[in-house]
Amino acid sequence: MKTTSPAQGAEPDLWHHYGRSRADTDRTVPDSFSWVWAQDGGPGAEVLGDLTDLVVADLGAGAARHAAHLVAHQAPARVDAIDASSAQHAMACSLYGCLAPRLRPLHADAIEHLDAHPDEYDVLYSVFGSLCFADPRRLLSVAARALRPGGLLVASTLGCYVGGAPAEPDVRHADIPARTSDGTPTTMRRWVLQEHVWTKLLDEAGFTEISIDRLPSATSGSRSADTLLVRACRQG
Ligand SMILES: C[S@@+](CC[C@H](N)C(=O)[O-])C[C@H]1O[C@@H](n2cnc3c(N)ncnc32)[C@H](O)[C@@H]1O
Repeated sequence: MKTTSPAQGAEPDLWHHYGRSRADTDRTVPDSFSWVWAQDGGPGAEVLGDLTDLVVADLGAGAARHAAHLVAHQAPARVDAIDASSAQHAMACSLYGCLAPRLRPLHADAIEHLDAHPDEYDVLYSVFGSLCFADPRRLLSVAARALRPGGLLVASTLGCYVGGAPAEPDVRHADIPARTSDGTPTTMRRWVLQEHVWTKLLDEAGFTEISIDRLPSATSGSRSADTLLVRACRQG
């Protein structure tokens, strides 16, 4: 299902390759939910609280594995799995279309979708999704409006660059390497920000009860990174 035009509609789909080989072999609904970069443990879905009868959205859901877990293991009214990538959206529909209507894959840019749906959601969450790849000033502002008063935002994002370089002390993106669907090298924007920068952005967007936990990587290596787990509420 498509609600608004994805920002990447006219652009190359830089998420064409992501999760593709796993989708070929693993079509199961995950029996766990992880926020951390390595997806190997740490806090799980309990961070979101009891989702019974709540309207939820995953911002940058990819193949919707986290959303599928929530629908299968809790009783939300609906989880919208929003992704701007046509490849990721197609993967989510193919893997978890069977969980409709409570799981609803949406092909949309998160900023455009949230902007068009004020007061729609009880809970917004993101696991290394839109919060990392969309301008956080714009995303947080529309997220605050798309939440109902008192609604909850939870997101995981990088606490440092992959490999260990420190996060940015200001709202500044990096251009990180990416590949188009035909393999041509290019770059995409990624926001890797220090805790105090996220706190200020959330505050400016109208969030309250802001907390940011650093979850250190359990392993060391060139692909390891700390996770920041960001939590905040829309003012009630
Ligand atoms: C690293 S993947 C994470 C996917 C999924 N959350 C997971 O944990 O497997 C980032 C995803 O965010 C999506 N994304 C990035 N910017 C977005 C935006 N502005 N709106 C919607 N989706 C976006 C990408 O298309 C991609 O599927």
